[in-house]
Amino acid sequence: MKKKASLDVITIAVSKGRVFEESLSLLAALGITVPEEDLDGRKLLLSTSRPGVRLLIIRSRDVPTYVQYGVAELGIVGKDVLMEFNGDGIYEPVDLGIAKCRLMVAVAEDGTENRRRMRVATKYVRSTQRHFAQKGQQVELIKLYGSMELAPVLGLADCIVDLVATGNTLKANGLVPVEHISDISCRLIVNKAAMKIKSDTLKSLIEQFKQAVKK
Ligand code: PRP
Repeated sequence: MKKKASLDVITIAVSKGRVFEESLSLLAALGITVPEEDLDGRKLLLSTSRPGVRLLIIRSRDVPTYVQYGVAELGIVGKDVLMEFNGDGIYEPVDLGIAKCRLMVAVAEDGTENRRRMRVATKYVRSTQRHFAQKGQQVELIKLYGSMELAPVLGLADCIVDLVATGNTLKANGLVPVEHISDISCRLIVNKAAMKIKSDTLKSLIEQFKQAVKK
């Protein structure tokens, strides 16, 4: 008897924002495209030019969760997000080499206050904790959700931990990078259980991603 067709449907979770355009270009290199009119941000589950492959458009921090629970078999997500993710059930087979940037500590150009315990503002709490713990430095973490550059300027924190690509955002806000924590790029992630159940389809897709990255 023939296998149920639905077994071979593959959902790829991608996120709007920083990595979206480059994710779409990479998918296009695999021959997986989405009609322009579907990219206006309202439709969240999109059919693609490849039968059996659909895209799920979600917040970047939700990508690992959707893949962990197998709602999406594959995901394209920044290493910065994966470093904050506290779950399991996913493999990370390919460094896609897109949306490259660095996770860095930055301070105000005109110096910091002299607090006994340094205050660090960030949304990258786990990576920041790990970084300062490795240095044996006790810091006070202030969790923010965006516009972190303001924190040292307004005296909320002594430094921030944030992504730096061109460095323009730091510069525009009078900040300078002082410590490099990690190089960041997008990764392909895959649900571990799906890797067994849809093995042939997923292995083939992963190989296509690898080939597209080499080009
Ligand atoms: C990131 C980061 C900086 C900016 C750095 O924000 O938080 O604000 O990019 O880029 P640059 O060095 O090229 O100026 P992102 O665009 O990912 O959005 P976010 O503010 O939601 O994190």
